[in-house]
Amino acid sequence: MKILVIGSGGREHALVWKLAQSPNTTQMWCAPGNAGIAQERLAKNGAAVECVNLGAEDLPRLLAFAQEKKADLTVVGPDNPLALGIVDLFQSHGLRIWGVNRKAAQFESSKVFSQKFMEKYGIPTAAAGTFSDVVAAKKFCASLGGKCVVKADGLALGKGVLICTNQAEAEKAVDEIMVSKAFGAAGANVVIQEFLEGIEVSLHALCDGRTAKIFPTSQDHKRALDGDLGLNTGGMGTYSPTPFLNDAQLADTAKKVLEPFMRGCVAEGIDYRGLLYPGVMLTKNGPKILEFNARFGDPETQVYLTRLENDLVELLAASVCGSLGSLELKWSPLASVCVVMASGGYPGNYAKGKVITGLDAANALPHTKVFHAGTALKDGQIVTNGGRVLGVTALGKDLKAAQSAAYVAVGKIQFDGAHFRRDIAAKAFSV
Ligand code: AMP
Ligand code: GLY
Repeated sequence: MKILVIGSGGREHALVWKLAQSPNTTQMWCAPGNAGIAQERLAKNGAAVECVNLGAEDLPRLLAFAQEKKADLTVVGPDNPLALGIVDLFQSHGLRIWGVNRKAAQFESSKVFSQKFMEKYGIPTAAAGTFSDVVAAKKFCASLGGKCVVKADGLALGKGVLICTNQAEAEKAVDEIMVSKAFGAAGANVVIQEFLEGIEVSLHALCDGRTAKIFPTSQDHKRALDGDLGLNTGGMGTYSPTPFLNDAQLADTAKKVLEPFMRGCVAEGIDYRGLLYPGVMLTKNGPKILEFNARFGDPETQVYLTRLENDLVELLAASVCGSLGSLELKWSPLASVCVVMASGGYPGNYAKGKVITGLDAANALPHTKVFHAGTALKDGQIVTNGGRVLGVTALGKDLKAAQSAAYVAVGKIQFDGAHFRRDIAAKAFSV
C-alpha cells in the first residue's frame, strides 16, 4: 500500500514510524515532513520515506500529488487541513483518506458547536453558555462569580482560552476576544465555562462512523516550565497510562462520553471517521469534557504509538471503511514517557538552525525513540527548525522506569538553548 502522510511535527513522525512498520506499506511520502521522518525506512522493503516539499494546507497540490503517485491511503495529522476540508476534497476525487471530514472537524474548529452538541446529547461537560453578545456574555460570567474560562469559538492556535479568577478579569477577557478581536474572527462568538478543578487527562478514540474504540489514558503537560508554571505551549511532554482512571472508570467514561457522542453524530448527519480527542477534567463530580479535538494529540501520539501493538495501517483503513467493530486495539503493558526538547525561548521567540548532536546515541538506547518535530537537514547536519524540536520517548516496565529512560536519552542530546521540563510524568507519582 502506498501511503501519504500530511504534516511535519512530532505527531507525524510517530505516525510515519508506526505506519512504516506495517507489512502492508510498500511506499511512503510525507508532506512536508522533517529531518527525522526522512530517516525512516519501511519494514517491508527497506525503502526510504520521502519528504515532499508541499505545505499541509496546500490542498490543491496535495491532491495533485496523491493522484499522480496513486496513493492508496492519505493520513492527515494536523487540524487545519481537516477544517479546510481536505478529506471531502480527496473523497470527491475518489481517493482514500484518513481523518475527519469538514463537518466532523467542527468539533475542533468551533467550540460553540461542540458545547451545544455536548449539552444536546447529554455529554458531561462544564456548566456553560455560548454568546455572540458582549453584555450577555459578561452577565453570564457574573453569574459564575467571575471564576470562569472564556473561549474564542474558532481556531486560535491554541491561544484563545482565557482563565479568569474574578469578574474584572472575566470582563477583560470578553473584551479582548469579542471587542478587540485579539484572535480575529475566531472571537465573534465565545463559550464561557465554569472553572473546573481537578486533574486533566487526554482521551483518544478511533472512530469509524458507528464505533469508537477508546485508547488508554495519557496526560499532557501544557505549561512551559516545571510545576505547571510559565506560558501555555503545544505540549511539553506526555505519558501513558495514567494512574487517574482504572480500567473500569475508563470504560465508564467511554460509555458516558463516546456513546452519546456517536449517537449524536448519527442523529446530526455527521459521519465521524477519524480520531476523537476529548480533553477531560477529572472533577470530584466525575469526568467533564472541556473540549474536543478532531485529530491525534501532539505529543500524545508519541506515547500512544510506542505502546500500540496493532498494525496501524489496518486500524486506519478500518476507520475509513467502517469496520473497526471487528478489531481489537492491543496495547503494550509497558509505560511510555515522552519528553519534549524545545528551542530556547519557546513558546515565545526562538532561534532556528542550531546543530543537534547525540541523536544516534539516544536512539541506540533500548526501548527509546527520538521523534523529530521542528528539525531540518542543513549541510549534512540535523538542525533545529521550530519551537518544539524533539519528542524523546522511552518505554519502561512502569512509569518510573520509562521516565528515567526518557531522561537518560534526553541527557545524550544537545543543542544550543535546549530547554525541557524535568518533571514529565511526576504527577503520576503524587497520587
Ligand atoms: P481547551 O483548549 O478548551 O482545552 O482549553 C485549554 C486549557 O485550558 C485546558 O487544557 C485546561 O487546562 C484549561 N481549561 C479549559 N476549560 C477549562 C475549564 N472549564 N476549567 C478549568 N480549566 C479549563
Ligand atoms: N497535546 C495537545 C494537543 O495536541 O492539542
